Amino acid sequence: MAKCKLTREQEQKIEELLSRMTVEEKVGQMNQLSPSIVGGFDVSMEELIEMVTDGRISNEEFGRIMSQAERDFHEEDIRAGKVGSYLLNDPKKANELQRIAVEESRLGIPLIYGFDVIHGFRTTFPIPLAETCTWNAKVYEASAQVAAREASSHGVHWTFAPMVDIARDARWGRISESAGEDPYLGSVYSRAKVRGFQGENPADRERIAATLKHFVAYGAVEAGQDYNTVSMAKSMLHNGYLPPVKAAVEEGAMTVMAAFNDYNGVPCTVNSYLLRKVLKESYGFEGFVVSDANAIKECVNHGIAEDLSDASHKAAVAGMDMDMGSDAYHSHLAEQVEAGEVSMEVLDEAVRRILTVKMALGLFEHPYADEARMALYDGALDPDHFAVALDAAKRSIVLLKNDNVLPLKRDARIALVGGLADDGENCLGAWFADGRGSDCITVKAGLERAGAHVAYAKCCDVESVVDEKELASVAADADVIVAVVGETNSMSGEASSRSDITLPGHQQELLAAALATGKPAVAVLMNGRPLALQWEQEHVPALVEAWQLGVTHGDAVAAVLFGDYNPSGKLCATFPAVTGQCPRYYNHPNTGRPGSKSKFTSRYLDAPLEPAYPFGYGLSYTQFAYENLRIEDKGDSFQAAVQVTNTGAVSGEETVQLYLRDVTGSIVRPVKELKAFEKAVLEPGESRIVTLTLAKKDMGFYNDEMEYCLEDGSFIFYVGGNSRDCLEQELRVSFEKSEIADWNTV
Ligand code: BGC
Repeated sequence: MAKCKLTREQEQKIEELLSRMTVEEKVGQMNQLSPSIVGGFDVSMEELIEMVTDGRISNEEFGRIMSQAERDFHEEDIRAGKVGSYLLNDPKKANELQRIAVEESRLGIPLIYGFDVIHGFRTTFPIPLAETCTWNAKVYEASAQVAAREASSHGVHWTFAPMVDIARDARWGRISESAGEDPYLGSVYSRAKVRGFQGENPADRERIAATLKHFVAYGAVEAGQDYNTVSMAKSMLHNGYLPPVKAAVEEGAMTVMAAFNDYNGVPCTVNSYLLRKVLKESYGFEGFVVSDANAIKECVNHGIAEDLSDASHKAAVAGMDMDMGSDAYHSHLAEQVEAGEVSMEVLDEAVRRILTVKMALGLFEHPYADEARMALYDGALDPDHFAVALDAAKRSIVLLKNDNVLPLKRDARIALVGGLADDGENCLGAWFADGRGSDCITVKAGLERAGAHVAYAKCCDVESVVDEKELASVAADADVIVAVVGETNSMSGEASSRSDITLPGHQQELLAAALATGKPAVAVLMNGRPLALQWEQEHVPALVEAWQLGVTHGDAVAAVLFGDYNPSGKLCATFPAVTGQCPRYYNHPNTGRPGSKSKFTSRYLDAPLEPAYPFGYGLSYTQFAYENLRIEDKGDSFQAAVQVTNTGAVSGEETVQLYLRDVTGSIVRPVKELKAFEKAVLEPGESRIVTLTLAKKDMGFYNDEMEYCLEDGSFIFYVGGNSRDCLEQELRVSFEKSEIADWNTV
C-alpha cells in the first residue's frame, strides 16, 4: 500500500519495538478506548440519547451536556501501555493523554486518535449521499481535504470515513452516509476521499488517515433494517459491493473498519474469509482493521461466540487488528496468547500493522496537536472552506421535476412554509463532527441573503399537524409558495431505518394545502435518503431535492431557486415510487420474467413498474439532446462517442453516462452497469462530441470462485443523461487476452 511505504529505518524501529514489547503491551496497541462517561447529568445516558433523537433537546444542547459530563480518561491504562488508540475530539485533552503515552509509558508509543469526520469537521459539507450526486471526484476530494485540515487541528489523526457501503435500500437509514447504489460511482468516490483525507503524504500535518467502512455488505442488511443479517452470493459481493473497497485499497487507504452485520452466517468482525483472504491476501492491504464499536462483544449476541473471551479469540484469529471499545482484547487476549490459543504471529501481525500506520502518519515524530492550530476553526467559519462547501452544496442539488415554475423571478413574492425552512440543525444531517446548527444558513436565511421577498410561516413541523389558516394567510399575497419538507437529522443515519419512506408527518397535507391555493408551488426536499415520492411526482409542479447540505444549505438552495446556479446534480440512488419497491436499484440482475404490463412477470400488483426517479437522473434549466452514438474498438478499450447538444436557452452542465449490458454470461448479469461518465458544460445551442472510454479488462465479472471472467459475446452499450433514457448499440466482442494489459485475476 503506497501510503504506508516506510523507510528502512522506520521498518527497523517497528521491529525493534516489537522485540521489546511484552504481550500486554502488544495487546495494548490493539485496544481502542473512548472516555467513559461516569455521570454528571441528571438522567441516564440512554434517556439522553432518546431526548436528542426525539428532539426534546438540540444536538448542541446534547454536545454541551456531554462536554460537561464526568469522564474517566483511563490515564492509568495509557501509562501502563494498555491503550493504542483513542476516540476523541478535544485537542487539549488529546495532548494531555498523549503526553502520558509518549513520556510516561515504558515504550513511549504514541496514541492514534480516531474520530467520525464523515462530511466535514467544523465546516459541515453536504451529507455523502448528496455530495455523491455531484458526480465529481474533485468535489469529493476537496471536501475531504478541508475536513482533514480542520480535524487535524483538533488532534484527530484518523477519520472513520469514507463510508463505502453500497446502499440499495432506501429504508436503511445509513444510506445517507453512503455514496449510493453503484459500485463504479462508489469507487470514484472512495478513491477521491482517500486522496482528500490522506494526500500524497499522510504524515503532512494537515492530513489524516482514512477508514474504509463498513467491511462489508452492511448496505445489504435484510429489509433495510439496521444491523440486520446479510446473505449473498460471493459473485454479488465481489461484483456489487467490494469494488469501492478494492479501489480505495489501491489508492492507499490506511485502515478498514469491519461491519456489524454477518456475511453468510459469519459476522464480519470474525470473518477470516473477508479479513484475511479477501482484504489482506488478495487485495494486499497493509494497514490495519478496526472493529466497529463494541462489535467484538456483540459476537456473543450473534451467537457465534460463547462469551467475551471466545469472541476475543475468534476476532484475533480472523485478522481483526484493533478492538473498538468492547474490552475483549484488553481482558482476554494476553491470556490466550500465553496459553498458546492465539499465536504470537497473530499478535505481531496486528501490532506491526498498527505501528506501520502510526509511523506512516508521522506520529512518532509529531505526536502532539499543534497548539498554534488548535483554535483555528473554533471561531467564525473559515471563508475559504465555506466557499468549497458552497460549491459542493450547489452541485449536490438534484432537480427532480419542473413544470415551468423554476427558476423564480428575483422579485417574486415568496410564501415560505414548512418547519425545516428555518431550521439550522436539520441542515447538518447525520454525523456532524464539530458542526453546529447555528453555523447553518437555512433556506429562509439563504433566500433573504439572495434579496428575495419572503414571507415565512411555519404552518407545520416535520411531524405536527398543518395550520391551514396560517398557510392561507401567508399565501394570500404571494406569487409562489416554496414548501421546505422532508426529514429531521435523526430520521436517517445509524439506527434510523424507516419502514415507510414517504414524507413523514403531515407534510404531504401541507403540500396539498399549498396546491389548493391555486398558486404555483415548489417543494424543496430536505432528507437523508431517497423518499417514495409517487404522490409528489404526480401533483407538485416543481420538486427540488436539496438533501441536508450543511453550513451553506440555504445559500445553495437560493442559488438554484433563482437560477443563479443551473442545477446539475444526478441521483446516485434510485427514488422508488412507493416504499414497497425497496430495495430498488437500477443495476439489478436479470430475471427470467422482466417486469412488464403482463401479469406473470416480476412486478407488484399494486405499485408502478418503474421507480419515481432512476439512478443517474437529474434535470437542468436547459435540455440536452443526445444523437449519433458510435462505438469504436481501440484495441484494449472501447470508445463511445456521442453528440450532446444544449437545446435550451441557458448554459448548463450535463453528466454523460455510459452503461453496459453483458447480454449472456456464465452467471446471471445485471441489466445494466455504469462504466464511465464525463462532464460537458455547454452554452445554449452548443453541440459537442463527448467521448467515454471503457477498458476491455473492465467488461468482466467475478464468479463465485472469485475468478475474474471476461466472456466473449454480445454487449449493449448505452449512453445517456440517466440510467433509463439512453441511446444504445449492440456489439459482439471477443477478448484477446494478449491485447489486454493488467488482466485482472483477483
Ligand atoms: C458506527 C461507525 C462509527 C463508530 C464510531 C459505530 O456505531 O457504526 O460507523 O465509525 O460507531 O463512532
